[in-house]
Amino acid sequence: MKLVVLANREPVRRVGERYEVALGGLAAALYPAIQARGGVWVAWGPGGQDERIELPGLVVRRVPISARRVAGYYRGFANQALWPLFHLFLEHFRIKRGWWRDYRAANAAFAKAAFQEGGPDALYWVHDYHLALAPALLREAGARWVGIFWHIPWPPLEVLSVLPEAEALVRGMLGADLVGLHTPDYVERFLEAARGLLGVRVTEGGVWFGGRFVRVAAFPIGVDVAGLRDARERVRERAAEIRAAFPGRRILVGADRLDYTKGIPERIRGYRRFLEKYPEWVGKVVFLQLTAPSRESVPAYRGLKSRLFRLAEATERRFPGAFVHRYAALSRDELLAHFAAAELTLVTPLRDGMNLVAMEYALVSEGLPLLSRFAGAARYLKGAFPVNPYDPEGLADALAEALVLSQAERRARRTELLASVQGLDVGNWTEGFLEALSK
Ligand code: G6P
Repeated sequence: MKLVVLANREPVRRVGERYEVALGGLAAALYPAIQARGGVWVAWGPGGQDERIELPGLVVRRVPISARRVAGYYRGFANQALWPLFHLFLEHFRIKRGWWRDYRAANAAFAKAAFQEGGPDALYWVHDYHLALAPALLREAGARWVGIFWHIPWPPLEVLSVLPEAEALVRGMLGADLVGLHTPDYVERFLEAARGLLGVRVTEGGVWFGGRFVRVAAFPIGVDVAGLRDARERVRERAAEIRAAFPGRRILVGADRLDYTKGIPERIRGYRRFLEKYPEWVGKVVFLQLTAPSRESVPAYRGLKSRLFRLAEATERRFPGAFVHRYAALSRDELLAHFAAAELTLVTPLRDGMNLVAMEYALVSEGLPLLSRFAGAARYLKGAFPVNPYDPEGLADALAEALVLSQAERRARRTELLASVQGLDVGNWTEGFLEALSK
């Protein structure tokens, strides 16, 4: 069956006159499945033109969305209403008249283009909070197999109810045959929302809606295990260079998009507390925080950026040589080389649907992650040090503990960690979801 993927971001990058497949994130996860089945990826076309880009094994269909509509659909409804609310950041939640209209219109444009590509018999796989309404729109158009995967957390009903369009949003998703989320907790809350907002009958594993059974289940995403193992060899030399740049220091690393959900300032505060509370480590460690620019057109992100920069500079001044902030979109290998160079990583989101950093880190390095218990991944990754990013004292203590781990304990934790990461291979995630959808 032909596979039609709907996702806001396109899986291509321009190289001179041509395009090539950009195998980051979701694209890496889905490309093999698309290649195997033949398929189309429907995405927001940044050029504002309706275009088809044909690549080996993959067609990208670009949905044109006008700049005005992007303001309401992407910058507004998706990133100032849904994103903060679903991550429990009510202080960043905004609603403006017109955003919902733009969101609906963009979803309709995606569904229309996708149905043109796939017709009634394709397998439609919709991704993430940008496109919650697409499943119902595809179903109305005549699609028979529709799935949606929700990559961000699902909040409690009380929080979801803050959104005036909560009911319409859930109704839109229930146009699917299969709704996937990362954890059983999110699944439970989604079912709670369907029951509470739409009064639908919830049974084992799903809901009855409009005479159809919609299956709702947890599909925890993972990483490309084999690909990352290969990367480990590839970045070995560069990792050694990075290590050599910090002689005599044990290296810690943090890597995120600049986002208020990621807990970057909290992590830095925890690290500062660690240096104050355990001064014997001053001069012996360095923490490299790698922050990638993100969503700079959204006001809350600009505010965070200036606060983060102030904190980072103050930290570099207060503890010379112990902290480095790099603000840049690093290449994939450069990022992985930093992982390989570090003996611990600090993954401290205040809330995260899943988070793949700890898994990528586990596969390319020899080290261990400190992992926020508020990331979906915490439920699945054994061997990591669980931390509460809101608590600098606890973070400081966890760091101190992790740095003096015995060889035996380190090995035991690594074994558990690798086993859990291997159990979450992204290829299995993709095939598992598609298999459940085509049943
Ligand atoms: C999160 C979302 C993705 C999104 C990514 C980058 O991981 O779940 O859907 O693509 O952030 O954000 P951006 O707004 O740049 O697409």
